[in-house]
Amino acid sequence: MADRARALARPLSLAAGVSLLLMLAACGTDEPLTTISPRSDVAGDIQGLYSLIFWAAVFVFVVVEGLLVYAVIRYRRRPGDGIPPQSHGHRLLEIGWTLAPIAILVVVVIPTWQVIFKTADAPDGAMRVEVMAHQWWWEVRYPGLGVVTANEVHVPVGSPVTVQLETADVIHSFWVPRLSGKRDMVPGRVNAIWFTPEATGTFLGQCAELCGESHANMKFQVVVQEQAEFDAWVEAQRRAPDPPQGLAATGASLFLSKGCLACHTFEGTVALGVIGPNLTHVGGRSTLGAGMMNNTPDEMARWLRDPSAVKPGNIMTRDGAMYTNAALALTEDDIAALAAYLGGLR
Ligand code: CUA
Repeated sequence: MADRARALARPLSLAAGVSLLLMLAACGTDEPLTTISPRSDVAGDIQGLYSLIFWAAVFVFVVVEGLLVYAVIRYRRRPGDGIPPQSHGHRLLEIGWTLAPIAILVVVVIPTWQVIFKTADAPDGAMRVEVMAHQWWWEVRYPGLGVVTANEVHVPVGSPVTVQLETADVIHSFWVPRLSGKRDMVPGRVNAIWFTPEATGTFLGQCAELCGESHANMKFQVVVQEQAEFDAWVEAQRRAPDPPQGLAATGASLFLSKGCLACHTFEGTVALGVIGPNLTHVGGRSTLGAGMMNNTPDEMARWLRDPSAVKPGNIMTRDGAMYTNAALALTEDDIAALAAYLGGLR
């Protein structure tokens, strides 16, 4: 018997050690999509609810398991025991275990309710940003400022922002774990979510509703900046980018002749397509393909060569007319020129 116990001790302690490590790994607060390190008022409230429910669950677990273990040990069968006394119901116990869950649910439901109503009620004077979800990228508009961008939401620190949420196709869900809760973007509906960012920095967002083949590839960023930096960003977005020179100028004319304009807008030109992201300042964004790649000339070229290799199911695909039509298909030289042009659009 003792040998068997000893033989079991090693795998059991190994399993316990591995589980503990996995559990501790979940405590990291620096992960980009961490849900336990809030940086806004609303995310802080949600975190408060999470803690409350977590500790309520721990309390229930300890009480129930404690009573269970106590009963198993205290009333276990001993040699010579006959049939124990048979009982049929216990009024006090039954009232107790009916009232206790009610009390726990009331403790959980009141603050939950308060937070739900608070998150639905944006403060007066909050800056409005409109986000339209597409398979699989995010269109971002600032109605008061005349700015349109994609996959990057810039906001000033310390003032409330309300994000109006819509979709151009299927159901998506807007989620920036450190700044906001999750809210669905439902066809035919206008939803909203608001928060007041409390720290500057770049916070990752992710679509949180299965929306097709590249759902997992539908990322974005919220860049929280000091007010002056934000104002400078808005200024830059409203200004036309510097005129392209050399290779970039070749890219500019390819942009207009190779069919790009059917889907993309470049303000100030005849390119007014609205199927893909507005590219007026694409060079100033930090990522490409909705958070899939860093915005470098090499990555831009890789994207132009075969977008659906980076993002399966993408509308801009090697099977599309701009790749299969001999008059539109891009050569490696075209791709280099386009990458130079797009990268310079800041
Ligand atoms: Cu959009 Cu998942």
